[in-house]
Amino acid sequence: MRIVESIQELRTARAGLAAPLGFVPTMGFLHEGHLSLVRRARDDCESVAVSIFVNPTQFGPQEDLGAYPRDLERDLGLLKAEGVDLVWTPTSATMYPEDFQTWVSVDELTQHLEGLQRPGHFRGVTTVVAKLFNAVGPDRAYFGQKDAQQAAVIRRMTADLDFPIEVVVCPTVREADGLAKSSRNTYLNEAQRKAATVLFRSLTAAVETFEAGGRDTETLREKMMAVLRGEPLAKVQYVSVSDPDSLDELSGEITQALLSMAVTIGETRLIDNMLVCD
Ligand code: PAJ
Repeated sequence: MRIVESIQELRTARAGLAAPLGFVPTMGFLHEGHLSLVRRARDDCESVAVSIFVNPTQFGPQEDLGAYPRDLERDLGLLKAEGVDLVWTPTSATMYPEDFQTWVSVDELTQHLEGLQRPGHFRGVTTVVAKLFNAVGPDRAYFGQKDAQQAAVIRRMTADLDFPIEVVVCPTVREADGLAKSSRNTYLNEAQRKAATVLFRSLTAAVETFEAGGRDTETLREKMMAVLRGEPLAKVQYVSVSDPDSLDELSGEITQALLSMAVTIGETRLIDNMLVCD
């Protein structure tokens, strides 16, 4: 496994990799969610590249950039065990030199859900992912359904900017009790960790309602809210029933939807989602 830092070293190493090349962009502190993407890329592709970069431009001023967990040695050990060919660990100075002033942003898809709660977040994500795509030049790139809006925004950007890259979205990996795996789960104390299962419980209740024939968006939203209200440590930022493609909020009777939510538990902001369709 080659580990490179500069873009020049990356380009040289990349040139020696067999096609198709699968790419998994990450911010490190890897868990089974990230590794599921790596395994899928390993299965699908001749070579696999992973980037580890805690991207400062996607964090808001009040967010957890400084506290974001990091453990590069452990990450490299995990990636080596998965048979990854190339790991790129760029520095902030490489990605954002002092005179940096070009941004990539997706207009409409970012005016919903996470985009409304985290102004500028997706501009940071699309800018860094466009730069990572340009530098790595993969044939396929792997993202998690856990961040459903991010996956939709990156799909749009990839199509709009004509990147010759297939975007592959992989299922959310969960803990045994349903909590979606996330690097941010490490912020939770024991009581908060228990409370955090409320997102899964709330989404599951709405999925069950849908599967039992409940098609009314208000009923589904209320089902999710009722479960969330039962958890005193949970503060709801939003609960949404949206169109899975446009992310427009839906009303009335539906045949398919993205059910999603953002909830804070203490200082920790958690998101989760599930898709329903007939
Ligand atoms: P990060 O949060 O490290 O996540 C990297 C990838 O892992 C993303 O595609 C994310 O959706 C996926 N992922 C995280 N938790 C998952 C889970 N429980 N199950 C399945 N997939 C999961 O997302 C980012 O980094 C950044 O925004 C990035 C795309 C790297 C740009 O900076």
